[in-house]
Order: sequence, then C-alpha cells, then structure tokens
Amino acid sequence: MFQSSSMLATEPSDYVAPLFHGPPQAIEALQAGLLARPAHIEPKYLYDALGSSLFSAITQLPEYYPTRCEAEILRDHAADIAQHVGKVKALIDLGAGDCIKAEKLFPSLRPEMYIPIDISVEYLHSAVQRLKNTYRDLNIAPIGDDFHHDLRLPDTIPPSGRLFFYPGSSIGNLDPDHALALLTRIRTYCDEGGLLIGVDRVKSRDILEPAYDDALHLTAAFNLNLLRHVNQRLGSDFDVQQWQHVAHYDEAHARIQMHLQAQTDVDIRWPHGQRAFCKGERIHTENSYKYTPEGFRDLLTRAGFSYVEHWSDACGWFSVFSARA
Ligand code: AVI
Repeated sequence: MFQSSSMLATEPSDYVAPLFHGPPQAIEALQAGLLARPAHIEPKYLYDALGSSLFSAITQLPEYYPTRCEAEILRDHAADIAQHVGKVKALIDLGAGDCIKAEKLFPSLRPEMYIPIDISVEYLHSAVQRLKNTYRDLNIAPIGDDFHHDLRLPDTIPPSGRLFFYPGSSIGNLDPDHALALLTRIRTYCDEGGLLIGVDRVKSRDILEPAYDDALHLTAAFNLNLLRHVNQRLGSDFDVQQWQHVAHYDEAHARIQMHLQAQTDVDIRWPHGQRAFCKGERIHTENSYKYTPEGFRDLLTRAGFSYVEHWSDACGWFSVFSARA
C-alpha cells in the first residue's frame, strides 16, 4: 500500500528532540507568568504524561463534542477531502499525540511518508513504535518538538505534496494573531501542498461550557495537573487542593477561558521566588477560541492560502478545512 521506506525510518528520524529549548528560558517564562497580574501559565504545561492521558480521556466524554464531530466529518467526507487535498507525499501531523487521527486518514490519503510532531515526547514515542509495527512500508519520521515556536522540517521531506494535518481545533488554543502567524509559517512550508485543519465553531454557551467543565471533573483534573507539572519544572509548592478549575465562555472574544482559582489565601514559593495569591485570585491557563466558518476562511486567506473548502458535522458544531497553497 505504501512506498518502501527510505533512510529516514531508521536513521536520524528516530531522534526525538528534548521538550524544552533550554531550561533557563522556560523557567524565566514560568516565573514571569506567575508574577504577572493577573498571573498566567502557558497551556503547554497541561501536557505532561498524565496531562496527555487526561486529555485523551476528555476526548471520550459525552460533553466534549469536538473529537466526535471531527471524526464524523473525516469519516463521512473522506473521499471529498482526499480529492480536494490531492496527491500526498508527506503527511505532517502537528500535535500528533497518539497518532490515531492521522492513522485513520492513511487509507484515503495514502501518504508515502508520515511525520508526526508532538511536544509530549513519551507519548509520541510509544505511538510511533506501534505504527512502525503495523505499517512496515510507511516511512515514519517522528519529531519531538514544540512546533508553535519553530517549525523545523528535515530536508529529506520532498517539497511537493506536503500535507500539514492540524486536527482537534488546537489552532483555537492560540490567540488570533499567533494563529495567523502559525498558519502563515505553515503556508511557506507547503508551496505545492496544503493544510487539513479542524476548527471548533462558535455556538451556544450551554454546549460550550459543559465541554470544558464536565460532570466527571476530568477537565478539572487536567487543569489542576498543570500545577503539579509546574512544581516539577520550577520546584514550586502548589497544593492542588487549594485551587479550583474554572471554565467560562467569553462571548465577546468567542473563546473559552480556563483559569485556576485560589480557594483560600496562598503563598507559593519556588527557588528564587514567591507569590502571594488572595482567595478568589486566578491564574489563566488556556484560551480555546471558536470560529465561524467565514471567520476561519478569512484567516486562511490572510495566511496566503487560496483554494479553501470546508466540511461540517450534522449538527454544524465543528468544521474541517482543506486549504491549498
Ligand atoms: C487541545 N485543545 C484543542 C483542547 C481544547 O478544546 O481547547 C484542550 C482542552 N482544554 C480543555 N479541554 C480540552
């Protein structure tokens, strides 16, 4: 089914880069965020090994519709999507995680190479081992990196026939300026290729807020776990029992905002720093922007894509866009 693998599958492609570019900058950014008013912590700290597992569980919740809706679109419109996308030489999976979403595209898109990129290196590693055992002829070249800062691709990826796959509405976790900058950067990497991207849509608060504050409190655990991850990275002494998960739909900005709210007055200490939080004070941990189809089409056009198509689920809650250069 796939072309035979080249050197990439066994040589430098097996190398997985470290998570952070350099601990000093990461520590400085963490400290600056904690000392800011209001305080904030980057959403990448949601994804240590436990956080990635919790997110995977969230995608199975009845309240968390995006994963289900996107899977419906990719299944029901597979043939149309494949036709719009054209010949795929290299499928580049941004934020690949367990690689299962991309794997479902293999039969319709028939890529020659698969390049999964993810910040969560442990997660990526085991997924890639599984895929290598299943698809022995597929050239798989994993990259462990944070592509939001620097999208570096090996020269061995052919310049034509590149399809970037960015599912799950992860683009919504960037503010619109950063989303435009990332899409523009992707566009420069795919002159003769394109982008297949999942985007969550603006909808009623009654649907949105439970998706980010579920009855089983998995999203609360996901958000609180970020404090434990920060404790490991920074040496801080957050006690998760003193914090509460808060998710709110900010209609004016069309975004879910996630915060952690102090349940009592707390003093947080870490080597070379400290911060007092009053009861009720919040730390911002994530935004999840929602788009109208027109708004996202406009963003893609501004990023330099010209041939744009999109498909929706039956409820009209989610969209998958295919954009060609
Ligand atoms: C990964 N990302 C698209 C998820 C979202 O819906 O914004 C992260 C998430 N946060 C809370 N639940 C899920």
